[in-house]
Order: sequence, then structure tokens, then C-alpha cells
Amino acid sequence: MDQSADTNAAIWQSEEIVATWAAGARKRERNEAAQRRFMAVLLPFGEQERFTFLDLGAGTGAASRAILDLYPRSTAILADFSSQMMGAGEGEMQPFAGRYRYIEFDMSTGEWPAAVPAALDAVVTSMCVHHLPDGRKQGLFAEIFDHLAPGGWYLNYDPVRTEDPVVHATWQRVNDDEDPEAASKRLHRTPQEQASYDNHIRYVIPLDQQLEYLRSAGFRGIDVYWKHLENVIYGGCRPG
Ligand SMILES: C[S@@+](CC[C@H](N)C(=O)[O-])C[C@H]1O[C@@H](n2cnc3c(N)ncnc32)[C@H](O)[C@@H]1O
Repeated sequence: MDQSADTNAAIWQSEEIVATWAAGARKRERNEAAQRRFMAVLLPFGEQERFTFLDLGAGTGAASRAILDLYPRSTAILADFSSQMMGAGEGEMQPFAGRYRYIEFDMSTGEWPAAVPAALDAVVTSMCVHHLPDGRKQGLFAEIFDHLAPGGWYLNYDPVRTEDPVVHATWQRVNDDEDPEAASKRLHRTPQEQASYDNHIRYVIPLDQQLEYLRSAGFRGIDVYWKHLENVIYGGCRPG
């Protein structure tokens, strides 16, 4: 892939695109509520336990909110490279004031801010790892492993790609069935929707490749803990 065609930063740092994204957030969050709660349930903490987790590519904080909600003594660090997304998130995060902070971090670099604690209890990513080129996905997983305390968990909720045209057609047919407007939206994208879509699919890769990155980083207990068509939640822990 020609890296000059990578529009990711321009997309997520555009006031206009972030405003469109935020306008659709409520509906998206309703549709994703069950998997977000499930991701929180997968974390092996007692309900009253104190722990700190990092949400990378946190955006407006949907993943963090599900965890903060389930574990009332948890604390979140939300990292993103888009001041526009973090600005939009401050309003959404208000119910959790005092239990979270945003930090600026560009995951496309391997340079983690000093503000990230050395031994985190958990790291989560949701709907953002697919924006990174493969070398950075692999690098990021190794960096996450290094920033976890022994026994700490990493979970990723993200789309995957299939090489099999029959599987691809099945995903599309069922998605269209679940959202009667999907086919028409696909055929009639505005230029802004097309740009967001192109950015969405640019670096989506097969599931096995991603699980292999986790294995080579040293994670154990790796599994695809949830899957619905192209969307998965996978993860693992740093050995204790
Ligand atoms: C589709 S949104 C998902 C936001 C949130 N995690 C969620 O699940 O609702 C993708 C997020 O990843 C962030 N992002 C994309 N590339 C990034 C990078 N290189 N470094 C940090 N954040 C990035 C974007 O700014 C955006 O907030």
C-alpha cells in the first residue's frame, strides 16, 4: 500500500467528519451495547476491585464507559491522536468525571507518552487497530504486552477481513438483512462517506494474522471470545 494514500489522520482530525461521526454515535452505541458490556465482563476483575485500564484510540470513550460502568472503582486513561474526538468525548464522559483522563497519543508511532503507567491492569482497543498498517499492529501488540502488569489483559474489538468470497458474500447478505438501508447506503455514498469507508477498510486484515501477532508478542489465553460476521472481540493476558 502506498503510504501517501493513508488518509487516517486527515479523517480523524477533521472537524466535519468527527461531527458526522459523533452525530451517529448514539445509534451505533445502542447497536453495540451488548458487545461493549461483554468486553467489560471479559476482564477478570471483581466488581469492587480498583484497577486502571488504558483505552487506546478511545475516541468518545464508548469502550471505557462500559468498563467504568461495570466496575465502579476502576479508573480509565483514554488515549487518542484526535483533539476533535477527545473534545467530543468530554461531554459523553461527564458521568465518570474524576475517574478518567484523556491523553494524546498517536499509535502510528511506537513512542508511548510518559503519562502511561508502566504496569497497567488492562488495555482495550475498540474499532481502531484496523486503522494501523500491519507493522504497527504487530508493534502495538508487543508494546501493549510490555505495558501490562503480569496477569494483565488486552482485549480488542475490531473488524476482520476474509479472503473467501463465499464468506464475504454471506457477511454482506446478513448485514443487509439486519440493516435494510445498508445496500442503498453502499451504492449511494457521499464523497465524505466514501472517504470514511476507504479509510475504514484500508488496513483491515484476516483474523488469523492478528492472533499470530498476539502469540508472537507473548500473550497467553488467546481466544476469539466473541464474533458476529466480520466483527470480533479477541484478546489474551500477559502471563502472571
Ligand atoms: C472508529 S473510532 C472508534 C472510537 C472508540 N474506540 C469507539 O469504539 O467508539 C476510531 C478512533 O481511533 C482513533 N485513531 C485512529 N488512528 C489513530 C492513531 N494512529 N493514534 C491514535 N488514535 C487513533 C480515532 O481518532 C478515533 O477516535
